[in-house]
Amino acid sequence: MTEQKASKGTYYITTPIYYPSSKLHIGHTYCTVMADAMARFKRLSGYDVRFQTGTDEHGLKIMQKAREKGVTPQEYVDEVVAGIKDLWNTMEISYDDFVRTTQPRHVKRVQAIFNKMNEKGDIYKGKYEGWYCTPCESYWTESQLVNGCCPDCGRPVEWASEDAYFFRLSKYQDRVLKLLEDPDFLKPKERRNEMIEFVKQGLDDLCISRSSFDWGIQVPIDPNSVIYVWLDALTNYITTLGYPDDPEEFNKYWPADVHLVGKEIVRFHSVIWPAMLMSLDLPMPKHVMGHGWLLIDGGKMSKSKGNVVDPVFLIHRYGVDALKYFLLREYTFGQDGVYTNEVMLKRMNYDLANDLGNLLSRTVAMIEKYCGGIVPPAGTFDDIDEDLKKTALSVAPALEDHMNDFQFNLALEDIWVLVRRANKYIDEKMPWAMAKDPEKKEELDTCLHNLAEALRIISILLIPFMHTTSERMQEQLGLTGEKIRWDDAFSFEKMDGEKVTKGDPLFPRLDIDKELKELNEIQKKQMAEAKKKADKEAADVKLKPEIEFEDFDKIDLRVGTIMKAEKVEGADKLLKFRVRIGNEERQILSGVAEYFKPEELVGKKVIVVANLKPRKIRGEESQGMLIFADTGKKFELVTSSADDGSKVR
Ligand code: ME8
Ligand code: MG
Repeated sequence: MTEQKASKGTYYITTPIYYPSSKLHIGHTYCTVMADAMARFKRLSGYDVRFQTGTDEHGLKIMQKAREKGVTPQEYVDEVVAGIKDLWNTMEISYDDFVRTTQPRHVKRVQAIFNKMNEKGDIYKGKYEGWYCTPCESYWTESQLVNGCCPDCGRPVEWASEDAYFFRLSKYQDRVLKLLEDPDFLKPKERRNEMIEFVKQGLDDLCISRSSFDWGIQVPIDPNSVIYVWLDALTNYITTLGYPDDPEEFNKYWPADVHLVGKEIVRFHSVIWPAMLMSLDLPMPKHVMGHGWLLIDGGKMSKSKGNVVDPVFLIHRYGVDALKYFLLREYTFGQDGVYTNEVMLKRMNYDLANDLGNLLSRTVAMIEKYCGGIVPPAGTFDDIDEDLKKTALSVAPALEDHMNDFQFNLALEDIWVLVRRANKYIDEKMPWAMAKDPEKKEELDTCLHNLAEALRIISILLIPFMHTTSERMQEQLGLTGEKIRWDDAFSFEKMDGEKVTKGDPLFPRLDIDKELKELNEIQKKQMAEAKKKADKEAADVKLKPEIEFEDFDKIDLRVGTIMKAEKVEGADKLLKFRVRIGNEERQILSGVAEYFKPEELVGKKVIVVANLKPRKIRGEESQGMLIFADTGKKFELVTSSADDGSKVR
């Protein structure tokens, strides 16, 4: 029993709801582990905590993935979500609610919310156009594109347009700006500054529906449209509380204390979500905390790129607590951090196996050897004892401050200040030497007592971060119940007479060089596979809508021979070809200059769309089109060994 009565009020914390498009990677784990540590910390310190996570299950991408797999979208998400829940169970994530946006409780409330916003006059019908990135389900403006590609994932985008409903986001621009000017609302301040700039440039109304696919929540006033994923997704934070029909839970936990989100979705949470809440006349969440990305090989670790590290694999190899510790200790909140196996293994070995593991095993072994396993009472303190005690008592308050500021790494560092001080204390005191001198019995007792005290405090303060490790420590220290409540971490007088028992080492010692070699090899293979899969999916995902056979049959494809190829003056991307098709020759232009040298194409056979209406490109006539394979990165020639003029069908 380490929890106290919830006396400090409620604390509602959320993670993003993840897309169940494929297995989660260590980046998602990072966010959820932080939220879990915070939830546990708040529960221990006396709050009535509600910790919510879940999955964002609608949208085009999921629909397409299901189609590729030959299952329904619902079947598809059911399977991925089961895996995600397994992951959180394995990691002992202490969520109180897991929302799935396909749950009826969510669906009916999203529709009610749409109606409310509509009644308020905040929704209208229009036409949506823009550059659309299918994997990210985002429309982008021309200026947001990076090298003409999606700024999030770097993939090609396509121009798209459809009938759609819009939310009057622009109406709330001033109020949102005011909200962002409160330094407490959005953190860290880099994100806040970005968002203030973004809002100052003016907010466009937001498209909140789609008519081009149907895997979504139906717009209540239009059977041909579904609600666009972000209105569906963001409202999860209140639909699960019963809004709008069931006020009890809602009034208890709303406004949320913290939405913890990755920096790429800060815009949705600190601008769009507040505006939606304003439309509903609801209070704002108290904080939006934007965390940084885990990077690998210089880029964001991301499902759609396949450059991902699998948390399940790491857990099986090193254990849940070691992974949690690494994630929380290594990275600074709000900043990006590079993932490497080497840094992870060093943290596990030096901080956990050496510093913490040794402190416990040495202390328990000495209490068994010199005191029959019973923690002796303390006698008089000298300066060194006082210093240890002072350090021990300073940890909990420092840690609380750091936790309240989301500085998980510093909170753990606070604990390790004590871990290292206690190890040094052993070296300074040399209890094995005192044990040889009966006159030093009281000094020895004091020393072992103080070490046990320090370990007790450490075991309590570790609960939010590594509760299994903390329980294993408490087992060896003979502690249960009373002496391991959170408040007991603020006192240094609890250990007299406890019976300690030596157990297994807390963490195995790793042969870092050997381990690193193995791990790098395994992960290289895993990543190559994940990348292959992601590339294949990316290629598959962009299938165009079905056409009738009659439509296809209108196209006349022929084999042609390239007789001449040259650059076009003043057009970097264009090549101009003379192509022979049987006994006819034509001029055709193609935008492939960056992929081929003109001379290497001469003499090559190509496939030609022969009955395409001629058109002018840069003042030159193009009589047809050449076919290339687009790998996403380059173009390759599609060729044939048949005589030119042959039909392709
Ligand atoms: O955006 N490093 O879902 P998502 C750190 N469904 N964190 C990372 C990360 C990385 N490399 N990659 C992902 C969505 N994350 C929406 C959210 S909320 C109403 C809807 C984490 O599956 C990070 O927290 O793409 C990021 O915000 C979240 O995963 C995005 O997960
Ligand atoms: Mg994402």
